[in-house]
Amino acid sequence: MEPIVAGNWKMNKEPGESRALVQRLMELVGDYKDRLVILIPPFTSLPSIGELVRNSRMKLGGQNMHWERSGAYTGEISGFFLKAVGCEYVVIGHSERRHIMGETDDMINRKLRLALEIGLIPIFCIGETEKERESGKTETVIARQIKEGLKDIENEAHKIVFAYEPVWAIGTGKTATPRQAAEMHQYIRGMIKKPSTILYGGSVKPENIDSLMKQEEIQGVLVGGASLKPESFTRIIRFE
Ligand code: 13P
Repeated sequence: MEPIVAGNWKMNKEPGESRALVQRLMELVGDYKDRLVILIPPFTSLPSIGELVRNSRMKLGGQNMHWERSGAYTGEISGFFLKAVGCEYVVIGHSERRHIMGETDDMINRKLRLALEIGLIPIFCIGETEKERESGKTETVIARQIKEGLKDIENEAHKIVFAYEPVWAIGTGKTATPRQAAEMHQYIRGMIKKPSTILYGGSVKPENIDSLMKQEEIQGVLVGGASLKPESFTRIIRFE
């Protein structure tokens, strides 16, 4: 399995800016091998980025989807729509959706089930808050998120890409040390039993990518802020 470098743009870049960013990124990155790059722009940019990546090695992902196939869910996006514009991946349970939009483990479980059913590869995010870590609850929280998230689909864990994103490291500049991340990855691996890819996310940048990727337990990264700049994302894609 190739290591994954995924860029989650969150709520940044309108379609024109998205296109310019990907064009510049493609110029800078040039040819690469032995790694899988996934671009995860906002929904409105998916069609045009889908066209740009169609003839490249880069893959496309959505930032979220609903747990139903279609229906009266104003403001929501169906996994089928993501597929129709070229997405192979979908982020599910991102901490910003859990903590800002109130997504529960049960909602996340339903989304994971539908994604698997319709053939999208979920990037399933888990992670503890600073308060939870400080009070020694990290493992309990991660265990709950995995157990509830994978309810009734435990046997399909190998089809899911896991992303360990400690909430205290997201957008804060505070990265988990490679050791801290590797320890949690080991814990997660122990829980899911099946061989799966586990990404690290949280203030990944050009300065720390090489040391993170040197950890055997880390199979890739989910990058926020640093994926918005073609130069820094290129350096991350070209990790050594
Ligand atoms: P930052 O890289 O900006 O910390 O964001 C991480 C993240 O949430 C990726 O999904």
